[in-house]
Parts: sequence; structure tokens; C-alpha cells
Amino acid sequence: MDSNETQRPIENQPQPNPTLPFTSKLKPYAFYLSSILILILAISFSLTKTNYLKTQQLKYTFSSQPAIFQVLFGFLQPKQKTKQTQVPNPISKPPYCVLWMAPFLSGGGYSSESWSYILALHEHSKTPNFRMAIEQHGDLESLEFWEGLPKYMKNLAVELYHTQCSMKETIVICHSEPGAWNPPLFETLPCPPTAYQNFKSVIGRTMFETDRVNPEHVKRCNQMDYVWVPTEFHVSTFIQSGVDKSKVVKIVQPIDVKFFDPLEYEPLNLASIGKLVMGKTTQNSKVMKKFVFMSIFKWEYRKGWDVLLKSYLEEFSEADGVALYLLTNPYHSDRDFGNKIVEFVEKSGMQKPVTGWAPVYVIDTHIAQIDLPRVYKAADAFVLPSRGEGWGRPLVEAMAMSLPVIATNWSGPTEYLTEENSYPLPVDRMSDIMEGPFRGHRWAEPSVSKLRVLMRHVLNNVEEAKVKGEKAREDMITRFSPEIVADIVTKHVQNILQKVDK
Ligand SMILES: *[C@@H]1O[C@H](CO)[C@@H](O)[C@H](O)[C@H]1NC(C)=O
Repeated sequence: MDSNETQRPIENQPQPNPTLPFTSKLKPYAFYLSSILILILAISFSLTKTNYLKTQQLKYTFSSQPAIFQVLFGFLQPKQKTKQTQVPNPISKPPYCVLWMAPFLSGGGYSSESWSYILALHEHSKTPNFRMAIEQHGDLESLEFWEGLPKYMKNLAVELYHTQCSMKETIVICHSEPGAWNPPLFETLPCPPTAYQNFKSVIGRTMFETDRVNPEHVKRCNQMDYVWVPTEFHVSTFIQSGVDKSKVVKIVQPIDVKFFDPLEYEPLNLASIGKLVMGKTTQNSKVMKKFVFMSIFKWEYRKGWDVLLKSYLEEFSEADGVALYLLTNPYHSDRDFGNKIVEFVEKSGMQKPVTGWAPVYVIDTHIAQIDLPRVYKAADAFVLPSRGEGWGRPLVEAMAMSLPVIATNWSGPTEYLTEENSYPLPVDRMSDIMEGPFRGHRWAEPSVSKLRVLMRHVLNNVEEAKVKGEKAREDMITRFSPEIVADIVTKHVQNILQKVDK
């Protein structure tokens, strides 16, 4: 979940490695070879416990036990590692496997999404005829993210990592952007790990944030037996872009409504972690509790932080008793968000209100997953005027936490935003994307003037906003709670097994 942020689109991918094009057959060798080299280096130089070494140790804990022998074993017989081993089990275990390959150890949108699926399936699939296995794929491991996970998630990861499956009985789910699928366009364990036809079925689970899918990704989608997407928006954009209609299936995302339950948490003290960037902290802030607008996003143009700042700073002044907190992290940029914001305000020619700027705070420290609900709990409203979202993870988290949400009424979030459960922000127009990997696509320009109106409205109608927040949680529970989505996934898996067994 990262949830400390949201979607991980193609642009978030690790940079393609120019030395790459070894064939997919060779790749596992290269992969394990590098692990071994690092391990040996680490041992022979007996490095101190730097993060680097800790990261490597994380890999071992996760990938092998006892590390070096299995790594070596994997190197000598890579097929073992790719879960080809058939360990006959006297207890009648289900013969089938679902191997979920995703950036479990990375943080970010795909990471949190994949976690939500395996947790849901682990806890809620009733007598399934398949076992679950997982594999890290699609992005680099983040030690910080791993360390911030609750113990039960770590344990589950290690347990599922060690599930042994035979390829013939396995459905592989490649949960990542299509560039990571076999053959990957950047360095990652390929998904599926060997040829597509070696497995019972191969499913691509992906999404996108613009109005279309690029031709390379369409081609990769069409290599899959199925393409699972989270929303109706994606069903239509994928099919319009040329993905075979018969392959596209909508599978919504689960949200852990027990973890994100407002009754379970005390608010985090935002003042202790937020850095003031605009305006000033009032001395009597203890007397008058400020109305807190929260936004969570990676620092990229797509997220509409410019729209948010402009609307907020033009609409409010210090006299309004509001505060805007931006929980953000770098995205191909440095961490100097304060200067970026000040620079943006200067360039935009906004006039400082006579009573002073309404305060803007930046939180750029890493918030561990376990503390995230307390961030939402400390807010009065959540706002994200994004130009395009795959799913909008922070939005559903905020909704599960019963917050009134103001979010752009376009792309993925249209799956769940309604007039009753939120404040859908109207779009001014569609715009052409001029730079970056989305160039040539289109996305939405959320309305600055309507965002101003909605933020003011929420501030002035706290009771109405609360009712919407309650409805939001109710909708998250009835549509996306883990047991409901686990059921949907299990049914699709059963269908596939039935079809291929015929
Ligand atoms: C949001 O968009 C949908 C179409 O996707 C539209 O039917 C609905 O009226 C819009 N809601 C608002 C508040 O603009």
C-alpha cells in the first residue's frame, strides 16, 4: 500500500537495464548468480550492518532457508526455484496452485494491491481447491517497506514463498505493469518464470491511468490467457486499445476494512511530523482545532498537486482555520517539496490573502504501513484532484476510514465514487499528455474552481460530510471487503480450472 501511495504505473518501473537482453532461459541463472555474488561479497568482506547488507539479508530470509545452500541449489537447478519441484504430499493437499507474482516487497500501488489479494485469499477463501504461492516480481525490494509491515504479513509472505507447486498445475498471476511480463523490459524475475505454455494458465493483472494502453502493452496483454483489470473504466479502455475482448475480466480490488477501521485508532499527531511550508502555525492552535484536509500521493504531475495547491490557497486564508497536509514521497525527483511548493506559488502569481496564507504542511518521512490508518484518522477530509488513477488506493483507504473524499470523477475511481459516498470532482476537459511515458495519451483536467467550491462546502457542512464518510465505509465493506473479493477471485480461478481441465 503502499498505501503510502497509490498506483504504480509504467513510469514507476525500474529503469531498463541496457545490458539486459539475455534470453528468458538464461535469466534465472543471471538472477541467482548475482545473488550469490552479493552474498559471497557480503560474507567475505564481513560488512557491517549497513542497509545494503540488511537488504541482502532480507532477500535471504525471504528467498532461502538456509540461505546459501538453497541459493546455490537454485543456481545449479533454477527450475527448483521456479517452483517446479513436485513434492508429493501424503496429506491430500489441493493439487492446483495459484502463483501470485507481484512487487510484494516494494511498496507502491501494485504492491499494496497484491498484498490485499493474498491476505484476502488467505483468510477468506472457503475450501479452495488450490494453494497459494507468491514470488517477488516487477520492482526492487525496499527494506524500509518490509520493515514497516506487520509481523503477520511478514510471516505470511515467508510461508507462501515456500509453497511448492508443479508448473503444470499452476495458474500464474502476473501482477505488475505489462513491461515486467516475460520477456521483461527491465531487470526483474520474468512472469511467468518460464514459457507461458508450461503453466496451466497465465493471467496478467494490471491497470492504467490514462485513456488508452500503448501498443506494446496491448501485445503483451494479448499473450496472456486473461487480463484482469480493476474497473469498468479499464475494461473499456483496454478493449478500445485492442486487447482481446474475451480475455478482459473485471476483478475489483479488496480493501482491508478491518485494518482501515476508524474505530480502532487514535489520530497521529500530524504537527509532530509535518513541515510547515506555507502560512504559519497559530499560537492558539490548541484552542481552535483546525479542519484538516489530507492528501497522499507520489510527487508527480499526474496527481494534480498543482490543482490542489491552487484551489486551496486561493479559496482559504489563515482566518479559515484550515490546514492542508500533503503526505508525499519523491517520484524521480528530490525531496525538496517545500521549495517546489513555494516556487510554484510564486510562479502562479497567487496573491497572499490579507489575513495570511492558509497553512500547508508536507510530511515526507516514511510512514510505516501500521501507522497509516492514524494518518487518515487525523484528517477531516481527504482530497486528491488527480488527472488519472488506476484504482486510487488512498481514496478507498480514506473511504474505509469514513472520511469524506473529494476526488476527480474520471478513470479508475469512477468505479466507486458516487454522489452519496463522496464528492466527485467534475472535470474541465480532457488534455493531451505532452511528456513522459504517457505522451500522446489523454487524461482529465480537474476543475480548480469546482474543487474550491467542494472544499469550502465540506468545511461548511461538516455533518453532511460525515454522513458521506459513513456511507463511504459502508460501500467499501459491501463491495470491496476481503471476503467479497476473495470470493470473486476464487470463482474466476475455479472457472479457469474447469475450462482448462475439459
Ligand atoms: C461522474 O461521472 C459519471 C460518468 O463517468 C457521471 O455519470 C456523473 O454524473 C459524474 N458525477 C459528477 C458529480 O460529476
